[in-house]
Amino acid sequence: MKTIVLANQKGGVGKSAVACQLAYFFSQPINQPMNKRVLVIDLDHQRNTTKALRTGGFCVVSATTSSKLLTDPKADIEHAEFVLVPGDGDLLKMEKKAAEHNAYASNLLAFLARVADSFDVCIIDTNPNPDIRQLSPLVVADYVLAPIELNQEAIDGIGDLLNHENIGIRRIQATLNKKLKFLGILPNKVEPTPFQRDNFRALSTAAPKYLIAMSPGFAAIKKSTAIAEAQAAGVPVWRLGKTSGRDAWREMRPVFDKIAQLMEVA
Ligand SMILES: Nc1ncnc2c1ncn2[C@@H]1O[C@H](COP(=O)(O)OP(=O)(O)OP(=O)(O)O)[C@@H](O)[C@H]1O
Ligand SMILES: [Mg+2]
Repeated sequence: MKTIVLANQKGGVGKSAVACQLAYFFSQPINQPMNKRVLVIDLDHQRNTTKALRTGGFCVVSATTSSKLLTDPKADIEHAEFVLVPGDGDLLKMEKKAAEHNAYASNLLAFLARVADSFDVCIIDTNPNPDIRQLSPLVVADYVLAPIELNQEAIDGIGDLLNHENIGIRRIQATLNKKLKFLGILPNKVEPTPFQRDNFRALSTAAPKYLIAMSPGFAAIKKSTAIAEAQAAGVPVWRLGKTSGRDAWREMRPVFDKIAQLMEVA
């Protein structure tokens, strides 16, 4: 089982949308050669991923909620082709229990080991605060992907994303999780404005190794109302039943194929 975390301290950049659409991409037979067994864990108390996947009705929603995976060393879930461990309000209380944080990460690690033979891919969505809900999955995951928007604040935030004292990806790679691979920054909601184009160019010149190289250029996802509509309806973008959905998916698919390739999920 390969585990990927969606993380960025910036809110509203598309962590949940990418998490859900990636889950659909990996799990749905239409995307051959995928059709993988997929586990999604929503570690955000806002529960946007839970809402979308529950609404869509494509997955089994586990009776076990995600805070339990951190607190209960024996937490177990239903096993099926596509399972969601939903978020819950208790996630909010966990940051205050600093003495438990090591146990939270150990419990999550042990849980993933217990279910590793039942799933091919595990996708973990996180909240935008730099706390245990982001730290624990980064400590246990194989891969991290960071959607961003191409505005100045997001670009200024890249330093924190990499070097934040608690949850900076480079720091975690150097200390708590040496196997963690940074897949890269994924510009999302990209608009064809001169401002965004300049920001993308500046980013790809200054930090190409932090972007996902495609041929040609770098991975990015355009702003599209179809993606927001698909999220609201909880469906795969390509199943929105509109030309705009199929168009959006045609552009997203190569990016998701590249992510699958980098994760070595054949
Ligand atoms: N490429 C896109 N085009 C248009 N809308 C998008 C795109 N990606 C995401 N959205 C929409 O933008 C909003 C924010 O996205 P999302 O909830 O995925 O962000 P997030 O990073 O998970 O936010 P939070 O930090 O609050 O958890 C949602 O309404 C979502 O449907
Ligand atoms: Mg979210």
